[in-house]
Amino acid sequence: MRSLISILDFTNDELDQLIATAKDIIANPEKYWDCCKHKKLATLFFEPSTRTRLSFEAAMIELGGSVIGFSQASSSSASKGESMADTAKILSCYVDIMAIRHPREGAPYVASRNASVPVINAGDGGHNHPTQTLADLLTISREMGRLDDMTIGLCGDLKYGRTVHSLIEAMSRHTGIKFVLISPAELALPDYVIQNTLEKHHIPYEVTTSLEDALPHLDVLYMTRIQQERFDDVEEYNRLKDSYVLNTEKMKLAKEKMCVLHPLPRVNEISVAVDDDPRAAYFRQALNGKYMRMALILKLLEEAKDPEKEAIRTDGLVYDRICTNPKCICQVEQELRHTARVSEDGVLRCIYCEQKV
Ligand code: CP
Repeated sequence: MRSLISILDFTNDELDQLIATAKDIIANPEKYWDCCKHKKLATLFFEPSTRTRLSFEAAMIELGGSVIGFSQASSSSASKGESMADTAKILSCYVDIMAIRHPREGAPYVASRNASVPVINAGDGGHNHPTQTLADLLTISREMGRLDDMTIGLCGDLKYGRTVHSLIEAMSRHTGIKFVLISPAELALPDYVIQNTLEKHHIPYEVTTSLEDALPHLDVLYMTRIQQERFDDVEEYNRLKDSYVLNTEKMKLAKEKMCVLHPLPRVNEISVAVDDDPRAAYFRQALNGKYMRMALILKLLEEAKDPEKEAIRTDGLVYDRICTNPKCICQVEQELRHTARVSEDGVLRCIYCEQKV
């Protein structure tokens, strides 16, 4: 059964095809009105969301389908101790496809191993957010007219900002891409993204703490919120929360054709005055998310007609190597066996959260 857990589950050609479908939906929405008639999507959101959940729901409704689900863990039986695996088995009885957001890294992956319908990762802790990347790719394509040959600045919380991890993985497969990583040292990009993606594919990148120094060189600036909900130490959050604020003065340092992206929600890292700058693309980006989620639902439902097509990988598994990441799903689901696999950088990593074991 084909699911979308990591953006790397899809090839570049498949991502290009999704972008093409989304552009066709934008041009010819009426063609798609009945495509999902009698199909049901479940949105299982164990964490808050505005854009992802509601754009998934709007996407399914615009395809002629229906939606069930919940928007907080407290209104599901997870609050009584039901496991992710059992939740996925139960929802497979009711719907044709499900989108899951969860605070635990690897939770949608666990669901995909237990569901008999496609599972979409709608954000798992600070790990991955592949459908935000779909929105980002369509936005870059529409704003810049290309996905190759550009310098992308990623600014803010690169440690917990799951959208950044998925975007780096996707854009690293394009040619002529360079990254500028702009963050305080405490919020630097995790080791697994640097090793598995940037180093492995020899992608040029620079590390800096200065947004002002980076700005003149960028084609895309991807701002992120400092992710308060992922911090264990409130004092550290308070010290770092105002690290970067993009304002109209700083925008004067940027190229005329640069575009500004942000997965949203923002707190104060982009001042409201920047919204009027034509280079500010973040509200268009949120709309693009709906079109890409429509394209994704269509693709996964089509592939579900042939459930044998993409079996979950079971090769190379190493059991009982203990994952110590306190945010991994394997720390709370008692029946989950700690399991690892040698990743592309030659390091043994937890199959749920990708941390070294
Ligand atoms: N970008 C994003 O994931 O927004 P929400 O948290 O509102 O879904």
